[in-house]
Amino acid sequence: MIADAPGGDGRRQPIRSYVLRGGRITNAQRRALDELLPRRGLPFAPALLDLDAVYGRSAPRVMEIGFGNGATLIELAASRPGTDFLGVEVHPPGIGQLLLGIEARGLANVRVIAHDAVEVLRHQIPPASLDEVLLYFPDPWPKKRHHKRRIVQAAFAALVASRLRPGGTLRLATDWEPYAEWMLEVLNAEPALLNAAANRRWIERPPGRGSTRFEARGQRLGHRVFDLEYRRL
Ligand SMILES: C[S@@+](CC[C@H](N)C(=O)[O-])C[C@H]1O[C@@H](n2cnc3c(N)ncnc32)[C@H](O)[C@@H]1O
Repeated sequence: MIADAPGGDGRRQPIRSYVLRGGRITNAQRRALDELLPRRGLPFAPALLDLDAVYGRSAPRVMEIGFGNGATLIELAASRPGTDFLGVEVHPPGIGQLLLGIEARGLANVRVIAHDAVEVLRHQIPPASLDEVLLYFPDPWPKKRHHKRRIVQAAFAALVASRLRPGGTLRLATDWEPYAEWMLEVLNAEPALLNAAANRRWIERPPGRGSTRFEARGQRLGHRVFDLEYRRL
């Protein structure tokens, strides 16, 4: 949920940063949703999570918003067993795919919430509890009339900043140049976030960021990829 807009019935409806696509779901993804989500997922509820209790330890915490099919999250979690990861996504086939990866790699440090990440941040994530927030290739909503659907908005910037620990990091990437400029404008204006680039614009591609499906798609289309990094002050 990004902001409120008038609904057709006169009541105010939330503007979402996604439209739930039907999409094909494989039998394996469906099984993963049925059998693994109850074990690896956390239900959405408007109550703060006790993250130490969720993971059974106190460790650095990383949240990925809109993980797609989860390839980046799986690689990160496998390479950093001392860090806890929370993936939040709304697309069922992608959630199923991530769960299959968690099972195949035997990852104990990943949990999933199948819900709008903005609501999860607002209601479930305690203030100053995250070390990193990852937002890779969010839907660019290129048409001007859809810009209000972009997840990166001033309220979102303030919300993410409030959930990061001081010194924590927000990492973003996009292959849509107008959205990269939009991100800069919105995030550079958030007083609790500092753009980590020397020129307050892009950083070099971080070596630790795995390639994502949407990055590969952008590259096939000849798009340049923009990486941004912000520190919580
Ligand atoms: C363009 S895809 C990128 C997926 C992945 N990060 C990648 O790079 O391959 C954007 C994803 O964000 C998800 N998404 C958009 N808004 C979201 C929200 N508010 N909460 C959770 N997921 C969201 C969509 O379902 C979609 O899977």
